[in-house]
Amino acid sequence: MSVAAGLFVSFEGGDGAGKSTQVRALADWLTGQGRTVLLTFEPGDTELGRTLRAAVLHGEDVDPRTEALLYATDRAHHVASVVRPALARGEVVITDRYLDSSVAYQGVGRGLGAQTIEQLSLWATGGLLPDLTVLLDLDPTAGLARITREPDRLERGGDEFHATTRQAFLDRAAADPGRFLVLDATRPVADLAAQIAQRVGQLLAR
Ligand code: TYD
Repeated sequence: MSVAAGLFVSFEGGDGAGKSTQVRALADWLTGQGRTVLLTFEPGDTELGRTLRAAVLHGEDVDPRTEALLYATDRAHHVASVVRPALARGEVVITDRYLDSSVAYQGVGRGLGAQTIEQLSLWATGGLLPDLTVLLDLDPTAGLARITREPDRLERGGDEFHATTRQAFLDRAAADPGRFLVLDATRPVADLAAQIAQRVGQLLAR
């Protein structure tokens, strides 16, 4: 269920796939088109979210269910306090990660079950799905090599964990081709940006 007035776009993919670069490029393009854009991210783009982000990424080790609930709590508050109000104002909301990350990392990567985790996030958000999800697909070895800072708890998950989550994103995209735009993240930045802008332009023209 999307909110009629605005447009909701999420970016997904492994760590180091270039999501933040493409998020910024899309925001710049939309602003140039005269659109009001709200750029946001998960986890952690609210005051409560910052506490939850620190806990889940840099806190003590937690079991998978606790981890899933921390992401879901962040998402519930993010949607209620940031995303839905902006969509209601007619803005284009672009989020760096959303519920597909939970399905891939907690549902499949941590083995809690894709359906269970999707249901948890849908409950948390009152059923809010993006109008478009851009999946920047990249071999996890290449993605993690691009990260220069200290890896967080999820990034330390190991090769098998990252291969599994990559496949989980691809499976999800294949099951819902209307919502997903899957792109090869090794393509030049400008090519990727052009493809994303074209798809978003089509959605806005509808
Ligand atoms: P993020 O800040 O997007 O990190 P990066 O810029 O490195 O992609 O996300 C932090 C980590 O949280 C990332 O490893 C993916 C993970 N994550 C989940 O496991 N589940 C979720 O629901 C979300 C939103 C993120």
